[in-house]
Amino acid sequence: MHKYSTMTLFLCLSFCLLASLHSAAAELQTLHHQLGGESLSLLVVGDWGRRGAYNQSRVALQMGKIAEKLDIDFIISTGDNFYDDGLTDENDPAFEESFSNIYTARSLQKPWYTVLGNHDYRGNALAQLSPTLTHKDSRWFCQKSYILNAGFAEFFFVDTTPFQTKYFTHPKDHVYDWRGVLPRHKYISTLLKDLDVALRESTARWKIVVGHHTIKSAGHHGNTQELVSHLLPLLQANNVDFYVNGHDHCLEHIASSDSALQFFTSGGGSKAWKGDISWWDPVENKFYYDGQGFMSMQISPSEVDVVFYDVYGNVLHKWSTSDVLYNVM
Ligand SMILES: *[C@@H]1O[C@H](CO)[C@@H](O)[C@H](O)[C@H]1NC(C)=O
Repeated sequence: MHKYSTMTLFLCLSFCLLASLHSAAAELQTLHHQLGGESLSLLVVGDWGRRGAYNQSRVALQMGKIAEKLDIDFIISTGDNFYDDGLTDENDPAFEESFSNIYTARSLQKPWYTVLGNHDYRGNALAQLSPTLTHKDSRWFCQKSYILNAGFAEFFFVDTTPFQTKYFTHPKDHVYDWRGVLPRHKYISTLLKDLDVALRESTARWKIVVGHHTIKSAGHHGNTQELVSHLLPLLQANNVDFYVNGHDHCLEHIASSDSALQFFTSGGGSKAWKGDISWWDPVENKFYYDGQGFMSMQISPSEVDVVFYDVYGNVLHKWSTSDVLYNVM
């Protein structure tokens, strides 16, 4: 699928071996974000890398404005970072053309914590994890699954693409870079086990799980059945507060009717899918927007405020944990 020099192949093999030895230790890498103040602000954008096209640049411009206003700590990317087929290698100019040269605002010169989407797996998936990219642009951080500890909030980034069976059963549709993922069953069961332990041991007030694929969505892709079956029960058992994803090219908020778990889709970073929405119980469906935009989260030990914005920076939807408490009282 790709042509590598013998040296690169050797390095990749060594890396895979090291990576598998590491995962055998049954733990996810944990990063620590040092809090600047008593609260945490961040933006979430997904499904974006199109060299500025399809309003990607307009979304980026508004992200810069909101990031400045909120004085954000970092940005989360929910994946599908580079269209259509990820990066070819670490030197693919798409990295600059779709990332460094697009999100140029001063306020966006913060860490970008990213995961891979299915389109990223169609290229050289390991290239996005390479420190070479971080050398090129120090904001960039991507791993398949990892934990970001920010004190009272903890973020669990999950590699969701390997869960989706159709990428394996219809290999002729696209070529995926499964290096480090096979055998699939073992990869998924180890990931779920590590995640379960990490979630259970977390003492953070807010537990936030981030993945590319939807769990619940009224959009084009709809629910990801494999995640409903295997990931959702872990989130419920460990009192996860929010699941944040992309994949459906829209902005969306679905509330659980049986728990406090909220589902936020921020997949409007570039090309959006107008009118591509299915019926969803209005009790759970708090918000759906079929255009481009992004989301912000302001998190304090006592409250989380979520806001969705369009390409003009207009507020489309606001939600706060204090609303929920108010409703209960
Ligand atoms: C860009 O955003 C505007 C406003 O939402 C929309 O009308 C327009 O169709 C979008 N352009 C593209 C190429 O999606």
